[in-house]
Amino acid sequence: NHLRHVESMAHLPSGAGRITRLNALILGEALASEEDDLVFPSEDFSSHAHVSSLQKYLEMYQRSVHDPSGFWSDIASEFYWREKWGQQVYHENFDVRKGKIKIEWFKGGMTNICYNCLDRNIESGKGDKTAIYWEGNEPGLDSSMTYNQLLARVCQLANYLKDVGVHKGDAVVIYLPMLMELPIAMLACARIGAIHSVVFAGFSAESLAQRIIDCRPKVVITCNAVRRGSKIIYLKEIVDSALLESAQKGIVTDVCLTYENDSAMKKEMTKWTKGRDIWWQDVILKYPVTCDVEWVDAEDPLFLLYTSGSTGKPKGVLHTTGGYMVYTATTFKYAFDYKPTDIYWCTADCGWITGHSYVTYGPLLNGATVVVFEGAPNYPDVGRCWDIVDKYKVSIFYTAPTLVRSLMREGDEHVSRYSRKSLRVLGSVGEPINPSAWRWFFNVIGDARCPISDTWWQTETGGFMITPLPGAWPQKPGSATFPFFGVQPVIVDEKGVEIEGECSGYLCVKSSWPGAFRTLHGDHERYETTYFSAFPGYYFSGDGCSRDKDGYYWLTGRVDDVINVSGHRIGTAEVESALVSHPQCAEAAVVGVEHEVKGQGIYAFVTLVEGVPYSDDLRKSLVMVVRNQIGAFAAPDKIHWAPGLPKTRSGKIMRRILRKIASRQLDELGDTSTLADPTVVDQLIALADC
Ligand code: WTA
Repeated sequence: NHLRHVESMAHLPSGAGRITRLNALILGEALASEEDDLVFPSEDFSSHAHVSSLQKYLEMYQRSVHDPSGFWSDIASEFYWREKWGQQVYHENFDVRKGKIKIEWFKGGMTNICYNCLDRNIESGKGDKTAIYWEGNEPGLDSSMTYNQLLARVCQLANYLKDVGVHKGDAVVIYLPMLMELPIAMLACARIGAIHSVVFAGFSAESLAQRIIDCRPKVVITCNAVRRGSKIIYLKEIVDSALLESAQKGIVTDVCLTYENDSAMKKEMTKWTKGRDIWWQDVILKYPVTCDVEWVDAEDPLFLLYTSGSTGKPKGVLHTTGGYMVYTATTFKYAFDYKPTDIYWCTADCGWITGHSYVTYGPLLNGATVVVFEGAPNYPDVGRCWDIVDKYKVSIFYTAPTLVRSLMREGDEHVSRYSRKSLRVLGSVGEPINPSAWRWFFNVIGDARCPISDTWWQTETGGFMITPLPGAWPQKPGSATFPFFGVQPVIVDEKGVEIEGECSGYLCVKSSWPGAFRTLHGDHERYETTYFSAFPGYYFSGDGCSRDKDGYYWLTGRVDDVINVSGHRIGTAEVESALVSHPQCAEAAVVGVEHEVKGQGIYAFVTLVEGVPYSDDLRKSLVMVVRNQIGAFAAPDKIHWAPGLPKTRSGKIMRRILRKIASRQLDELGDTSTLADPTVVDQLIALADC
């Protein structure tokens, strides 16, 4: 139904590449209110874009939802398939009331995503094209690799993995920073049909152990250490503790393949477990630079990626091969209007879904040149990103609002001293981008020349779901705009009833798309209850959303117990369970609060064990326990000592009240008379700045 609104916009003229206040007289009164800012792509941009107008989008979109089989088979045919998929292009049951949730795309088709990223592009003449520009933490430390070279490196590792007994369907955990070896390791696993599970190298030993225990890898791949900004992080030591912990729980990993990252730490300094630990550089070079491909079914698993949910245990999101391949490649091409001459840089880490789909697979499937950056965006100074943009002539720059906001605070002069004239398209992901950050990104970074693709999607969706196609329609700062091909978003009310037109509610999706996750590792029931049971008949995203009268979608943030800190998803329950594991903490309740740079900050209310006094040391050790159990990125911004928590008479914590106290909206506490002990609220307020 969003199409009705979009269709009415189809005759919008394209304007200059500047923020244009919509002139209701030119565009027809029904289109948008006068307050709306529409930002048009330039005519030049639109005329060269893959999708040059709203009409063209509508034609393609209509086909994608009315004939998904035809639409997606045509695209899938551009890839290499050892054997074509069966008669039925896709199969889905999206409705828990009709039985088990099931999604399949291109079942029966035999392919390999590594082959499609590398061999296929090399065969079409891109062998000598740069696949990866690697930029180290220290300026001046860099290297690059062509498609031919990348294939050779991937094959050597793939051969090694086979040699140590990794077979199709086996799991491999990758705990690496942004070295070239990270995408190499992912591709090597894919080449032999092994399932990779990349764990973001900012996760603690305990979190890593939890993931190792859940997916039982044959091999863990890591490096000895990495420099990030001015810090050194000793990854191998973290892996050692994780392997010790998982071995104590009966899960023994045979091989820990360790890359010597000698820019951070020398080999000799690294602690070593003989028989288990192997230096990457000692073994890999001995292997042949070619390696046969393991042809896998489109529905064979490609990777597992753990993400946070509303309970303490992370969920192993499972993606399969064929649909994910077709979907990431297609979304990359259209949402960034990718052209073969582009140089693409996504600042995300491969430890998150953005790095999977839009550092590794999406770009390489398109034969793109990708910048992989090891360091921190503010090191050695806050101009580093633009230095990198100029150095590699980056034309597509994809990042998170938190980075935009943090650089915005530093002032325009750190941007304007760089040229940035190579930039063509900008992208945003991870959280809603507030209009003021959007405008700064657009006007200052992009010199009011580059459209911004604000891409809404999730670990679960595999690829972009709601995103601008940058040449096709005007953007509105802060709106992810319209659905990608094949995606049918719906907004439902709390009863699960679909609402039409201008509205707000819960964002759901009505039918499957090729990149959708297929299950949660080892727990299909949790998959069904978490995502398909809240509003039967739909996939529920966990996000709130509104739709304006022009059909534009505006994401408003999570509506479940997940906090989005700097674009990282953190479950409140995970932080709470870390806090209560502290021997002096009796109870914890965590809520998200608005944070100027991070989007949301973590605010933790804690009650202490009887008789324990609150002190600054205790506060620090509570923060430390979260850092140790989850990772530094999940450290609470505020610990609020609470003698008691506001609870209903049945013992349920009233988070609504805690959120108001955390954000100091004290006149909006609402009715507190139903609390078991209403006086705790006054106590909490009195202790707020303790
Ligand atoms: C949020 C990251 C608004 C959203 C790709 C979603 C966004 C969660 C946007 C998924 C966006 C991501 N606008 N919100 N453009 N992109 N989100 O799984 O709340 O790490 O549910 O995937 O991030 O986070 P995840």
